[in-house]
Amino acid sequence: MRKASLISIASYLPERILTNADLENLVETSDEWIVKRTGIKERRIAQDEATSDIATKAARLAIERSGLRSDEIDALICATITPDHFCMPSTACKIAANLGLNTGITAFDISAACTGFIYLLELANSLVTSGAKKNVLIVGAEKLSSIVDYTDRSTCILFGDGAGAGVVSLSDENEIIDVHTASDGRFGDLLITPGQGSACVADENMLKNRQNFIKMNGNEVFKIAVSTLTKDVVEILEKNKISSDEIDFFIPHQANFRIIDAVKQRLKLPDEKCVLTVQKYGNTSSASIPMALNDAYENGRIKNGSLLLLDAFGGGFTWGSALLRFGGVDFDKISNAIKS
Ligand code: ACO
Repeated sequence: MRKASLISIASYLPERILTNADLENLVETSDEWIVKRTGIKERRIAQDEATSDIATKAARLAIERSGLRSDEIDALICATITPDHFCMPSTACKIAANLGLNTGITAFDISAACTGFIYLLELANSLVTSGAKKNVLIVGAEKLSSIVDYTDRSTCILFGDGAGAGVVSLSDENEIIDVHTASDGRFGDLLITPGQGSACVADENMLKNRQNFIKMNGNEVFKIAVSTLTKDVVEILEKNKISSDEIDFFIPHQANFRIIDAVKQRLKLPDEKCVLTVQKYGNTSSASIPMALNDAYENGRIKNGSLLLLDAFGGGFTWGSALLRFGGVDFDKISNAIKS
């Protein structure tokens, strides 16, 4: 059986920082309320950059770190709910052109909201292990500031912009062990951008009613997210006969510190095994897991062969989890074997 692995990770952070103090000047809120309810202190905002621009920067670094040449990438999938253009071209096509990847490669976007990166892992794993593709570039990128209503205090405090990317390739050393993705469209209205689509076309009325922005019933989403995620991570561990003690790092979708803490406690994971970036970046939807993974990688916490548990929950509803041993060929292991 062919094995595929996430062999590299990278991210890009837009420069501008929007703090809780900045938001206090926009809506009736306080740093204290935001930190207590969400854990978020600040988030990044892309100013003169579109989603494909920030995605390209993360993707270029992910290819560099994979050790592959860019002409070896034969598919690019981008998960985003804030594409550059509403219909076409896809953000993936624009990233491929920006990077100068081979013309003719497969490139497309997927929309799975905050669960985007888990869906990407499942797709890339299937493409590589089936032999359909060799090296798949996966990108989660969002300019959520373009769909956030900065007059709505219940949502504008939560979201930020950013991009994360990785390469999935064949590997003998490490592997994507299992991925579970799921959805339940009956809850679509609880977290929705109602306008601009075919159900609510872009006209003056739509703009006047601010239907082009994110609307969320936070309380309901919160409750369902906690119970669904807790069940999902327990099931993927049980299915693969892996105990939570064996996990090196838990990298959850970074929506709210309280959701992460509830799942972490259920798994009895110590704080040092949990990667937390929500305080710095807020909720960046499909970019949040690869950004968190990259943060831990750049800080030297995640290494080649680290056993990772990922989970996410988002609009749709969509949710999922993944178990993987990160990295490509373990160069340290090879050089130690040569020495001995
Ligand atoms: N500042 C001050 N007060 C506020 C703010 C704010 N920014 N926002 C809401 N409030 C008030 C409300 O008006 C309410 O006041 P009231 O009691 O007088 O009516 C009170 O605070 C409590 O509001 P709740 O909505 O009940 O607050 P809650 O504790 O649920 O926290 C939050 C809200 C942070 C949004 C939480 O519900 C949450 O994190 N939900 C889940 C988000 C999520 O995980 N989304 C999924 C992924 S997103 C994606 O897919 C794109």
